[in-house]
This record gives sequence, structure tokens and C-alpha cells, in this order.
Amino acid sequence: MRKIHFITFGCQMNKLDSELAAEALADAGHAVVDDESAADTIIFNTCAVRDHAEQRVVSRLAQLVPRRLADPSFRIGIMGCFAEREGGKLLRDLPHLDFAVGTRQFPNLPKAIEELGNAGDREAKPGLFGPDGRDHPGVHQAHARGRHQGLHGFVSVMRGCDNRCSYCVVPDVRGGEISRPAQEIATEVKALAHAGAKEVTLLGQNIDAYGKRSGGSLANLLRLIDLETGATGLLRLRFVTSHPRDITRDLVETVAEIPRVCPHFHMPAQSGSDAVLAAMRRGYSRGEYDEKLAMIREIIPGAGIASDFIVGFPGETEKDYLATRDLTARACFQNSFIFKYSPRPGTPSAEEMEDDVPPEEKKRRNNDLLAVQNAVNAARGAGLVGRRLEALVEGVSSRDERRWTGRSAENHICVFDAPPEGEDWRGRLVGLEVESATPLTLHCRVV
Ligand code: 5AD
Ligand code: SF4
Repeated sequence: MRKIHFITFGCQMNKLDSELAAEALADAGHAVVDDESAADTIIFNTCAVRDHAEQRVVSRLAQLVPRRLADPSFRIGIMGCFAEREGGKLLRDLPHLDFAVGTRQFPNLPKAIEELGNAGDREAKPGLFGPDGRDHPGVHQAHARGRHQGLHGFVSVMRGCDNRCSYCVVPDVRGGEISRPAQEIATEVKALAHAGAKEVTLLGQNIDAYGKRSGGSLANLLRLIDLETGATGLLRLRFVTSHPRDITRDLVETVAEIPRVCPHFHMPAQSGSDAVLAAMRRGYSRGEYDEKLAMIREIIPGAGIASDFIVGFPGETEKDYLATRDLTARACFQNSFIFKYSPRPGTPSAEEMEDDVPPEEKKRRNNDLLAVQNAVNAARGAGLVGRRLEALVEGVSSRDERRWTGRSAENHICVFDAPPEGEDWRGRLVGLEVESATPLTLHCRVV
């Protein structure tokens, strides 16, 4: 039996997969430990979306080599998107890597660990990749276990992606889109709520496409979950990530109607330029994106809307970049996650287009766009002063022990005075009034 520690990179789906994998290992009799130095096995759960994400794993792994050389029972494994992208090649290229398990094989981690050699014998290098059957039965079983959670729970409602954005490695490493049955999801959310979760986030790479193939929809799923969790203590439901092409009026109206569903959308634009959007094969124009934004704001005026952007995509001219800048300046996003284009092996943009924006120029556009978004945040924050919000209390602020922190339904980070001595507000909704704002935080008074 092993003492296993996870180091997780990448998105929320990866964090969830680490949790599910940890459970499968605990069920098989292993100990999952929080303390890296107490572990005899380290598993990296990895991201492949940009080269940088992969290089960080490689260098973290290199840091563990002295430990592996000194301790004959120490083992290092890798799971997730980087493992899937490289497959068995990683086991050959990295001599200190002992096992690798792909994105759809993590429920079989106990099997891989069983196959590891004994102390001193590191010949066995188990590697499991590719789909585990068309509908990922292993992944479903992993979900079905009653998971213990804190305040926040995560549930994947679909896996994989059928879009073919030209820059994106996800369809290759996570496979095609597969939606889980609605009832199964609702039952899982209910189980998390009974275990104490106050907020559940539904995850999908392209969540607005949920259930499309079987005549379902995300709106119907939200309605079902809302009904099923009525008698539980669940306070909030969220969902990510929305594709601008697939987000519908019905969905936004459903978000507006159900009090527990948070008015927050993560709807990545990626670019504000029609030429770049077409080269990215995003399936919408700038005008169509603007229409979706306007639709959300019309139905839910105070909604939080966040975006992702890639700067320095092949062929992106200064004029194209300025269109992205213009979108960021006008859209009043709550947050923009900005990335420099990174060509991913096997994707159409990497194979067919020249990575022709120089690194310094990518960096300049990245910093410039960040500055625009910061200015937007400052202006929006100032406009929120005096406004009433409701936050789900998370606990003591990491910056200041006398203050507590929580998130508003729109996903603003709020800090406020600690509750009176002896009172624990964690997991409760608290009414707040905004007193002042910094670009990332609203400073509030409890009302
Ligand atoms: N290069 C840079 N950023 C990328 N993203 C996805 N693929 C790439 C790439 N090849 C960004 C997108 C996506 C986010 C998760 O990562 O903005 O929304
Ligand atoms: Fe998540 Fe995509 Fe990165 Fe995989 S490649 S961890 S799905 S962001």
C-alpha cells in the first residue's frame, strides 16, 4: 500500500479528476496524503493547453529526481492531459517517470499502481491511455462514489469537446463530447449537498452543448437539479465554460429565473477580430459575440461575465489586436484570462499556420490587454460602491486575519469584518454593502 500525494496543474476539471482519482486509490487501500514529504508516491495531474504548462511539470519532476535516487521505494507518476498527449513517449523520454495514466483512464490508477515494481525494481512502467469505452464507464463509476467535500463541490456534466478550434489540444487529449445522464448528475449534486456542499459548480469544456445530442439542454439540467436539491442545504449552483455560439436565450432566462443559479458566465471571446476568429475556427463573428453579450445584459443586467483571450495568434495584425483591445475596453468583463498563443503539436494552427507574431510582441499585447482589463476593473469597482451584494462566506482572509472573505453570486471576491467572537459564518450567505474597491476585491460592510 502506498502513501500518495497529488500535484495538480490546469483547470477545474483536473482538480476534480485528482479528487476522483484520490478516492479510487483510497478505496483500493492506499493513503492519500496532503504532505508531499510524507508521500512515497507523487502523482502529477497535468495540463497540455500551452507549452508552458507542460514545461512546469517537467521541471517540477526534475526536482524530485534526487529523492527518487536516494529512496528505492519512491515512485513518480503522471496523469491528465500532458500524459494523454504524449502517451507512452513520456515514459521513454523521462527515465525517472514510473507510470502514466491518460485523461480517461484515471479510474484505473489503482491498477497501474499495482503493476509498479517493488522496492529497488523499477522495470515495470505501467502506461494506460485512450478511451475506456465510448462512454467512459470508469469515469462514471468514479463519480458514483459518495464523495466527501468542503463548501464547494464540482461535478463534471460532460467530458471532451466536439469543437475544433484550430489552436486547441483538448479534443485530442480529452476526446469527443460525451454528456452524462441528467438524472445521474442531479443525484450526484444532491449527494454533495447532503455531504455539506453549499455551492456546486457544474463543469464541462463546452457546457452549453450539454445534452444536445439526446434532445436535452443545460437549461433543463439546471431546472432538474434545482428541483432535486430543493430540500437540501445547497445555496448556489454555477456552471463553466460557456461557448459564445451555443449560449441560448433559454439558458440565460433559466439562470435569471432560478434564484440558486448564480448570474455568472465564463464566455471566452478569444479575440475581438473577425479575421482572427475565423482563423481560430470559433464559429462566431465579433458581431455575434457582441449580440450574446447584449442578450445576457438585457436579461440579467448585473451578471458577471468573464472572458479568455489569446494574443499573438498566427496572422494577428496590430489592427486585429486593437479589435480585441476594443472589445475588452467596452465589454466590462468581470475578469479576462489572457494567454500568449502557444502552438500545440497536432492542432491545425500549429500544423498549417506560421507562429509569426514575435515573442516580444505577444508579451506586449498581453501586458497591454491586462492593463486595459485592470482599468475596467477599477472603473467597475468604483461603480459598485454603495451596492448591496450577497456573499457565500468562505472564511478568514489570507491577507488580513481580522477580515473574512467570500464570493458574491456574480463571482466578485468580497472581504468584510470578521464575525463576532465565537461565531462561525462559513457556508452562510451574508448581506454586504460595498464600501470601496480594488481591481480584484470589493471591501464591504456587513448589513
Ligand atoms: N495557446 C494559448 N492559449 C490557449 N488556450 C487554449 N489553447 C491555447 C493555445 N494553444 C487558452 C484559451 C482557452 C483557455 C483555457 O486557454 O483562451 O479558453
Ligand atoms: Fe484542462 Fe484543457 Fe488543460 Fe486539460 S488541457 S487540464 S482540459 S485546460
